[in-house]
Amino acid sequence: MCGIVGYIGASQAAPILLDGLGKLEYRGYDSAGIAVFDGEEIQLKKATGRLKVLSELTHDGATMPGTAGIGHTRWATHGSPSDTNAHPHCSKGNGIAVVHNGIIENYLKVKKKLTNKGYEFLSETDTEVIAHLLDYYYKGDPLEAIIKVLHRVEGSYALGIMFKDHPDQIYAVRKDSPLIVGKGEEGNLIASDVPAVLKYTRDVYFIQNEEIALLTREHITFFNMDCEEIAKESVTIEWDINAAEKGGYEHFMLKEMYEQPATVRDTLNPRLKKGKIVIEELGMTPEEIQNIRKIHIVACGSAYHTGVTAKYVFEGMARIPVEVDLASEFRYRNPILEEWDLVLIISQSGETADSLAALREAKSRGVKTLGIVNVVGSSIAREADKVMYTWAGPEIAVATTKAYSAQLIAQYLLAIHFAQVRGTITEKEAGSLLNDLKRLPDQIELLLANKGKIQKFANRYIAARDVFFIGRGVDYAISLEGSLKLKEISYIHSEAYAAGELKHGTISLIEEGTLVAAVATQEDLYKKTISNILEVRTRGAFVLAVTNEGNTEIEKAADYVIYLPQTSSYFTNSLAIIPLQLFSYYVAVGRGCDVDKPRNLAKSVTVE
Ligand code: F6R
Repeated sequence: MCGIVGYIGASQAAPILLDGLGKLEYRGYDSAGIAVFDGEEIQLKKATGRLKVLSELTHDGATMPGTAGIGHTRWATHGSPSDTNAHPHCSKGNGIAVVHNGIIENYLKVKKKLTNKGYEFLSETDTEVIAHLLDYYYKGDPLEAIIKVLHRVEGSYALGIMFKDHPDQIYAVRKDSPLIVGKGEEGNLIASDVPAVLKYTRDVYFIQNEEIALLTREHITFFNMDCEEIAKESVTIEWDINAAEKGGYEHFMLKEMYEQPATVRDTLNPRLKKGKIVIEELGMTPEEIQNIRKIHIVACGSAYHTGVTAKYVFEGMARIPVEVDLASEFRYRNPILEEWDLVLIISQSGETADSLAALREAKSRGVKTLGIVNVVGSSIAREADKVMYTWAGPEIAVATTKAYSAQLIAQYLLAIHFAQVRGTITEKEAGSLLNDLKRLPDQIELLLANKGKIQKFANRYIAARDVFFIGRGVDYAISLEGSLKLKEISYIHSEAYAAGELKHGTISLIEEGTLVAAVATQEDLYKKTISNILEVRTRGAFVLAVTNEGNTEIEKAADYVIYLPQTSSYFTNSLAIIPLQLFSYYVAVGRGCDVDKPRNLAKSVTVE
């Protein structure tokens, strides 16, 4: 949450800061601000609301002269969204300006001390203590002051800092919140995420915890907490710059849904060699795979939902017991982890605070960890024992679509590979599963091409009050994701239920006209789901069914049917999700919602 940028170079800083913040708005968008050194003073401009308010206020940055500055787009944690609480925060007289992403956990204690020493606080934020504490420790050497502050504060932070006395410098430091440094031809940059710097450079440094970067116009120097200079290697980012642009689509979410066939191919193809699955990055011997006692899948939100699907797949195919945990629960529940367990941490951003903490918890118990991560070089990617990348490219819309699809593919690949090594499927079965996997991109394309039908259906439900999603087995897992997609972007209340569970209480909510989306792709459970459809329909529900081609019998039970192309029963989620994503998208558009930036949400949840 929150996006940080900084620039120091030959060009005017403010337009570059605003442009970078635009790429980071997915991280938070309730207020924004920039601080620029104008040659004499640090000038501040802040505005509540979307970034465009700040852009208008500064004429796209034109009214703020200066070639060094820092900027911030906020997702409020401490203090409501307001001009005063917006970042940057400054020490008295704007001597020091700070932008922050994360939470300073001991800020109340520090605030009290500083107040006793006569410091005056203007905002309700935790961040403001950093500006005043820097001022307190600053005796002419910014680095020394920063290190002293870092020793005093607890919590997570990525910070961009400017000192009026050192107008040719910008400082950056992080602990448990992401921050990168970009080395450009005409200036250097800091940012919370790669898309913010891609227009200016592909040469990026990933700052590690408690490393401090000092940027000048020409140079970038790194220090450790002992004030010693350290050497770091930059990484060349290969992402296509257009991947972070809308490219003619009305919303990033729609564009990203349309990128799913390519995402699936890109995640799949590098791991298929001569018709066999080769997951080099796994680094596990056949003996180690045979010895796996249990898999723990740990993640948040939609990534967690892919884990719920994968449980059915790993257990069904490879006969390995799987526990799926929400990362926020796993980290505090003292999980039972044993020597031959494997912990999978699934994360698009690789920065989700709870998932990162869960990874560290697992590692501290000596268990092998594998990150399934989209963002190269992110914290989870770096800290997991091994990392398997989902090659989805940058995902900008807050609601995940293509990264979700890629996470499913990565787990299918692992499951087939484990099943082969453990001898729980034959070579022939593995070959047939691989053929089904390879057909998925074309099948997804086909479903996307059918968007008109779903759009029409969605238009009938833009005024819905409650929607229920039901399914059994793998179809229950897809119901969880279908329901989350709808509620997060359209603000319609929705719930997902295992179809057999509805009558244990929730069926009392079904009224005349309530929409129930029933997913019935599992042939062995199909008849049972039809019975559940009839139960709700008898009570007045309108039923949208999603099932496999050929299951026409369902038309007698459901009001509206969407058919999916044939695939293995393990992989149906990869297809069923497409109409459900499209449905949520068109309902949200019909209701006039801000699809890419739903209220109260942020893309990367870096606070617990
Ligand atoms: C929902 C969504 C979230 C994320 C969750 C985990 O559309 O995107 O539920 O899946 O916040 O994020 P990552 O995968 O970055 O760890």
